[in-house]
Amino acid sequence: MWSVHSIRELCAIHLDLLVHERYYHGSVYIDSSNASSDLMHEAYLGREQTYLKHFFLEHYLERVGYVIGMTYGSLVYVDGFSGPWRSAGENFEDTSFMIAIRRLRKVREGIENAGRKVDIRCIFVEKDPKSFASLKQAVSGVTDLEVKPIPGEFENVIPEILDFIGKRFSLTFIDPTGWTGFALRRIAPILRHRPGEVIINYMTDFLNRFGDQPEHAQSFDEMMGGTGYAGLDEAGKIAFYSERIRQVGAFEHVTSTRIKYPYADRSYFHLIYATRHLKGLEEFRRVEEKEIEEQERIILEATEFRRLVRGGQRSLFSPEELAGRRSFESELIEQKAKATNRLNRLLDERRRVSYEDVLRSLLELPLVFESIIQEIIRNEKERGRIRIEGQTARERKVKKGHYLVRI
Ligand SMILES: C[S@@+](CC[C@H](N)C(=O)[O-])C[C@H]1O[C@@H](n2cnc3c(N)ncnc32)[C@H](O)[C@@H]1O
Repeated sequence: MWSVHSIRELCAIHLDLLVHERYYHGSVYIDSSNASSDLMHEAYLGREQTYLKHFFLEHYLERVGYVIGMTYGSLVYVDGFSGPWRSAGENFEDTSFMIAIRRLRKVREGIENAGRKVDIRCIFVEKDPKSFASLKQAVSGVTDLEVKPIPGEFENVIPEILDFIGKRFSLTFIDPTGWTGFALRRIAPILRHRPGEVIINYMTDFLNRFGDQPEHAQSFDEMMGGTGYAGLDEAGKIAFYSERIRQVGAFEHVTSTRIKYPYADRSYFHLIYATRHLKGLEEFRRVEEKEIEEQERIILEATEFRRLVRGGQRSLFSPEELAGRRSFESELIEQKAKATNRLNRLLDERRRVSYEDVLRSLLELPLVFESIIQEIIRNEKERGRIRIEGQTARERKVKKGHYLVRI
């Protein structure tokens, strides 16, 4: 095992790996000094997107798990497509189920340290018999959390899952390998479970490549819960699917975050998130903000490494150059403009809007973090278009309980 701290060091190590043909299509250069994550970075060589997915899951579970546990006193985490899948960790540290176990333990500890009791359980479903055997073996030593591994297809075991959940809060993660195995009609009972929320890995690249092909129409229709999406572009298809999830599960909010290929400005997948609570939305965007930073770093380092390997040169970008390159920059600007328009429409319609309602509406937009909403409000106020009701002279930020009023 080794850990690495700089791009130069990484490049040297990876060049050695390359010579020994240890890896196939690109690699991931992750600084182990990132103290906020438990992920075993060297286990993700060549699997940048999986690393980012796990980074997101880890931080989301930590934040949302704590809030749910404190509020409801119970939480059942359901991983419908558990794996292990392409795991390189010695003890499956790089799998979603192990990450969940580790984080949920911390959540429980935190809640118990605050003097509260919480009932946290996990369900892991896996259809492949060999993978299921590994899963069962890997979780057999877990005695401090109630863990239920279920063999079989997710869609077929939903009654058993719901039985185990009972009246508890369910947090379901659907992470398929393609677009089958989670037909909307079949997963509807889990989406409808209250209290509960869902994260779905929407395989954008597959939808982009195959979503309009007649030979796959039936399987995509099943996933999407009907027709009506053919011919739509990437954003259109995601909006369509999100709306279907919202309707079927009667969710208050459905939003998403994008994970790109490290070497191209192209989507790999989106994590689609459905919740009934503003708090969930707030936490999702906070985690996205962290994850985007991480994604930028990985994109830069992967690009630099590939350049180095292809050119065989060791002249790297300076840290200043690296820091200045942000692949999400134009998307951030676009999303901010959309959020400004959305706020103005809301104010034109209602004249007086609570800050909570502003958050409910604007935080649904990907990449619109609360810091950006604060900036938009500040700008609108400075331009004399709104005033803030309830804000004292000493308060710099708008807070819950304040109202935005159109002037
Ligand atoms: C993308 S991998 C999941 C990886 C895992 N969630 C992680 O991040 O570490 C998908 C897994 O689901 C399993 N699988 C595929 N179709 C399934 C189905 N219909 N029901 C349950 N598991 C399925 C595959 O065998 C594979 O292990």
